[in-house]
Amino acid sequence: MSKKFYITTPIYYPSDKLHIGHSYTTVAADAMARYKRMQGYETMFLTGTDEHGQKIETKANNKGVTPKQYVDEVVAGIKELWKLMNISNDRFIRTTDDYHEAAVQKIFKELYDRGDIYKGHYEGHYCTPCEAFWTETQLVDGKCPDCGGEVHLDKEEAYFFRLSKYADRLVEYYEAHPDFIQPVSRKNEMINNFIKPGLEDLCVSRTSFSWGVPVDFDPGHVVYVWVDALSNYITAMGYGSDNQADYEKFWPADVHLVGKEIVRFHTIIWPAMLMALDLPLPKQVFGHGWLLLQGGKMSKSKGNVVDPVVLCERYGVDAIRYFLLREIPFGSDGVFTNEALIHRINSDLANDLGNLVSRTAAMVGKYFGGQLPADQLAGDFDDDLIALATATKAEVEKNMDTLQFSTALTELWKLVSRTNKYIDETAPWALAKEEANAPRLARVLYNLCESLRMISIMLTPFLPATAEAIGKGLNASADILTWESLDTFGLLPHDSVITKGDVLFPRIDMEKELAELEAAKPAPKEEKKEENVVTLAQIGIEDFAKVELRVAKVTACEPIKKAKKLLKLTLDDGTDTPRTVASGIALYYTPEQLIGHNVIVVANLKPATLCGVESQGMILAADNGETVTVLFADDVAPGSKVR
Ligand code: ME8
Ligand code: MG
Repeated sequence: MSKKFYITTPIYYPSDKLHIGHSYTTVAADAMARYKRMQGYETMFLTGTDEHGQKIETKANNKGVTPKQYVDEVVAGIKELWKLMNISNDRFIRTTDDYHEAAVQKIFKELYDRGDIYKGHYEGHYCTPCEAFWTETQLVDGKCPDCGGEVHLDKEEAYFFRLSKYADRLVEYYEAHPDFIQPVSRKNEMINNFIKPGLEDLCVSRTSFSWGVPVDFDPGHVVYVWVDALSNYITAMGYGSDNQADYEKFWPADVHLVGKEIVRFHTIIWPAMLMALDLPLPKQVFGHGWLLLQGGKMSKSKGNVVDPVVLCERYGVDAIRYFLLREIPFGSDGVFTNEALIHRINSDLANDLGNLVSRTAAMVGKYFGGQLPADQLAGDFDDDLIALATATKAEVEKNMDTLQFSTALTELWKLVSRTNKYIDETAPWALAKEEANAPRLARVLYNLCESLRMISIMLTPFLPATAEAIGKGLNASADILTWESLDTFGLLPHDSVITKGDVLFPRIDMEKELAELEAAKPAPKEEKKEENVVTLAQIGIEDFAKVELRVAKVTACEPIKKAKKLLKLTLDDGTDTPRTVASGIALYYTPEQLIGHNVIVVANLKPATLCGVESQGMILAADNGETVTVLFADDVAPGSKVR
């Protein structure tokens, strides 16, 4: 039986501009797909675009173009971005593709015929940006629990999917398949926050707009975008078409990679749909964390700093891929900063890897005119290097098999460091002083080249272009750049010609670079400011005096499970009793960014219960319409009054 591997990214909303956070899922999926291909799996890597829905229709209307014209243009840009970032997807699905629309109609009809879709009335809260319906209890402060935006009440004739029927089967499935939802914490979140409170039937058709897949047996209805979108994972393989060969071959998918905010759709709605259709479930849904900006979630208005095209042009595609895969453990949230990126480039790429490659090639050039002599002599330190070089493969595999990209790279970098250390230990420059040492010197340089061969192979899934450049410099043939060839140290011919290539990663002057980036920041929008001058009625000083503001230290902070927007803070306000405050800043700060800092709390605000947390007051933050910035008061002692 031949080995097969099917991996997907979500299909992207065609928004005008993708930011670096969007590249996160795709780069991870690409690394995985490349790794599996190297391991000999017949691999199917699917990505695409999610093009229907009211949001798109409205955007197109505002631009004065048809929805199709609008998405065509944006999708072309997305495809270009993936090309630029060296994404090796095997297929790209657009939900506006004819074959997909036809298959979605079949799926909808099939569910209707089986009695799992029925006609009724819908009344609920709809969030247009998220294309999601919410029940009263799911709203947070009357707003969408996912994006925090406004929702509106909607009532219409609609079709419903019997999601409620599948609650028990879903939980049974999770329990029987512990790997199905990863990381595990997300499984508990699904059970406790969504399934236990009770699954309601899902509204799966709309009549208030037309930009969607028409329900073919009831004109005026279009299929709910998530039913349309989730189906892509099977329709892209030909499910529901005349040719189901790829579906038979690749389904069920090995893993759906998704951001944490859409795990719910992939582990509740999607499996229930598949159960209703009597189809196998995907083997795994992995919900990764978010890439945040310092002091704010990514948004395109942040301009150049988060534009993936700009970042790739400025630092190189592989530097960006490395940062995304190395900096943040897959599953956790992480913060993107230019400092962190530049630091990674300078230390890991320019210093550790880049230097190793250039020093090795330079020494072969200097001591042997670019070609290693075949007469070589083994010596001290060789065995230790060889042992680590041959052991690293298993470590990389172990981590890749659990999607731990960052740890896989850490293991690989241990070999990079070990190889650099080998240069110090063997001191080739000292050996070069005596003609008699030539065979030993030749073996030392050979071992360096051979380690680089192995490093380049293991680097390929992550940094394909860099790996290729290293392989080229070694003049290594394709048959010794395979994954299996990692089992044997010594496959590079002894008399290899080594070519010195271009510098792989030029060092960046941190200070100069940061200053340049600062200067290149887009100017603050003028109109925005005017808009922000909200004039309330004047108040007297006695009114202001009614507000008790106090400095308090954040001693603990954690997310609130049910609310994506909220963080729960524990404050030391100078009294003996710790104060709990729920604050709507989760999209802008990680708990780590707050703990230990001093903030300003409105201390005499009437307590209110937000998502099950009793909030005793609120903390002050500035909101410019784009982002929210907490007002820190780190120099002031907790308990101090603010007047
Ligand atoms: O959700 N950090 O599409 P999308 C990390 N169309 N990942 C991020 C991110 C960030 N700052 N911003 C976005 C959709 N992403 C639906 C999917 S699938 C049947 C339908 C990730 O364009 C996000 O988590 O909003 C998701 O995995 C992907 O980009 C696409 O998001
Ligand atoms: Mg999204």
